[in-house]
Formats: sequence, structure tokens, C-alpha cells
Amino acid sequence: MKTLNTAVIGLGRIGWAFHVPAIARHDGFNLVAVVDPLQERLDEAKAKFGAKGYPSYDRLLAEEELDLVVIASPTKFHVDQATAAFEHGYNVFCDKPMAPSLAEADRMIDAMKKHDQKLMIYQPHRARTDTVALREIIRRNVIGPVYMIKYTRTAYARRNDWQAFTEHGGGMLNNYGAHYIDVSLYLSESRAKRISCALRTIASLGDADDVVKAVIETENGIILDIDINMASAHSMVPCQVFGKFGSLVLDEKQRAWRARFFRPEELPDTKVQEGMAALNRKYGSGETIPWQDEVFPLADFQQVNFYEKCYDYFALDKAPFVPIAETREVMRVLHTCRQSAS
Ligand SMILES: NC(=O)c1ccc[n+]([C@@H]2O[C@H](COP(=O)([O-])OP(=O)(O)OC[C@H]3O[C@@H](n4cnc5c(N)ncnc54)[C@H](O)[C@@H]3O)[C@@H](O)[C@H]2O)c1
Repeated sequence: MKTLNTAVIGLGRIGWAFHVPAIARHDGFNLVAVVDPLQERLDEAKAKFGAKGYPSYDRLLAEEELDLVVIASPTKFHVDQATAAFEHGYNVFCDKPMAPSLAEADRMIDAMKKHDQKLMIYQPHRARTDTVALREIIRRNVIGPVYMIKYTRTAYARRNDWQAFTEHGGGMLNNYGAHYIDVSLYLSESRAKRISCALRTIASLGDADDVVKAVIETENGIILDIDINMASAHSMVPCQVFGKFGSLVLDEKQRAWRARFFRPEELPDTKVQEGMAALNRKYGSGETIPWQDEVFPLADFQQVNFYEKCYDYFALDKAPFVPIAETREVMRVLHTCRQSAS
């Protein structure tokens, strides 16, 4: 089995909790080294995973022979770190958002092409069990043609880390928006056509947005309605999907999608009324929709193993699980959202 010599850059929340252990678990990857400015984090990685630690990324690139660089540092470092990896002839797996701006994302793609390397962005929502299940339920046509996908994320958070500041590439549009825009475009299997967005900074202690309302219409006619509200005392339903014949709601407690739908051939034969006086002064047509309810437990579906997908792409040359053109589209939508909100 081909083994990819891999280094992880940034041992923070996502680097330490996800990337490092996932790489260590997978036989196709050899965790050669890690980079972080904090010495105690390098010591932890040495003690737990036997990885060599570098406080300087430049020194890592000068001293190690690698196949893959995994970037999990704060967003504003992604482009320069990825570009340096490409210049050394290494592939890059980078955490989202790819970059703080569309211009920087394009700079990263240009460097990837110039040095003929591979680049994939970590978009974990595509791999989640609820997404795998949802794609399958949509494909089975349970609720008919989908016309709207609504994602909601709520909390009340007085954010005080670097993600609260615009100068560091923070803000909830960049942070959670990169997830929900990616996953909703992925589910709609389309590109964005019309985009509008409102941004507010309400509970955050920084200057970056923590309330995001984005409405995106896709080229294939689906409305994507995204609410990220980090200043909300109440929570909202996390995801709802609407189709011509019914809708789906994600029940997080039951860990299931709940569908309510009808079969079009079972609808009563209702005729359009003639004239300009509603018949018998009645509201509605009086018909009863023959609703059916079905529960799809998430236990019946399987989460995607992201590092398996990384291995397929970086080691076996299979198609990328997250094609870079699709991430570029997410970056374009984020850019247009910022323009729309300003
Ligand atoms: N995919 C996801 O679900 C997910 C979740 C969290 C974060 N992220 C993304 O991952 C990135 C890191 O976020 P985080 O929450 O882990 O941040 P964090 O603040 O928890 O960790 C950042 C780490 O990078 C180190 N660091 C700082 N400057 C560095 C540099 N120049 N070079 C190398 N390392 C440096 C810090 O010492 C720290 O250990 C961000 O782009 C964020 O958007 C993605």
C-alpha cells in the first residue's frame, strides 16, 4: 500500500481533534511532522503520536520530504502556506474556508495549477450521516422535485477568539457559511445564480459578523435559505427541505429525517373554480391531502470517511470528493454575499 508522508500545520481545535488522529489511524498516511508556534502543542504531538515538531513552517519545508501538507492553521495563513507547499512539489488538503477572500482563493488555485499539484478543501458537512441520508432521500424522489433547502444554525455566543475579527478572516459567513453554502450547493447539484445576504454583528466581542441571512437561488431553480444566528436565545429547526409533494425535517433528538408527503396520484380530483366569487364563501378548496409520514433513521446510513476520500484522491488519483471548482463556487458565493451585505 502506498503511504503518503504527511505533515499537519496547526494543532488547534480542528487540527488536534480531527486531522492528526484521523491521519494516525489511517494506514495510508504516515504522520511525519507537525507545525505550530506553541511548543507545548508540539510536545503533545511528539508524546502522543511520535510526530516531529516544527515551530517554523519554512523549516519543515526545508528539512522534510513530504507527499501531502494538511493545513489547519487560522484562515489567513492558508494561501501562503498552500502556495509554499505547491512550490516544494507537495499536494495540499486544506481546511475551510479556503481563504479569507475570493482573490486569495484564486491565487491558491493559480499556484496549484502552476506547480501541477492537487488541492482539496475539507468540507465535512458533505460527509455527515444526515447529508448522506438526505442525498439518498432526495434521489428516491420521496418529496418530489425539491424547491427549497433551509439550513439554520443558532446559539448565543459572545465570540472572543480570532474568528471574531475581520482582519483574521473570521466572521460567521466565512466560518459556518462555508459549510452551509457548500453542503446546500452540493445537495442541489447546481451553481448559484442569484445571491442576497444580510450580515450583522450582535453578540460577538469582535468586529466580524455573527448573524448571517443568505438567500441563494441556484441555476436549477432551488432556493437555498441559510440562517446562521449566533445571537439567538432560541434554537430553530436545523434543516428542512421542501419538495412539490412534501417536506423533510431533520430531527436531531431522534437522529432521523422525518418525511411528510403525498402521492400525486392519490390527490382528490379538485377543479379550478369559475368566476370572481369564492364558492359558498368558503376559504380553501375543502380537499384533504392524503398525507403519509415516514421516518428515515440516520442509523440506516453511513458517514463518509474523509481520509479514505483523501487517500483515493491524493494516493490513488481517483476523482476528488470535493472538486476544487465546487469550492471556488463556494468562495464566489461568499464574496457575492459580502458585496450584497455591504
Ligand atoms: N472543518 C471544520 O469543521 C472546522 C472546524 C474548526 C475550524 N476549522 C478551520 O480550521 C482552521 C483552524 O481553526 P481552529 O478552530 O482549529 O483554530 P484554533 O485557534 O483552535 O487553532 C489554530 C492553531 O494554529 C496555530 N497557529 C497559529 N498561527 C499559525 C501559523 N502561522 N502556522 C501554523 N500554525 C499556526 C495555533 O497555535 C493553534 O494551535 C480555520 O481555517 C477554521 O476555519 C474547520
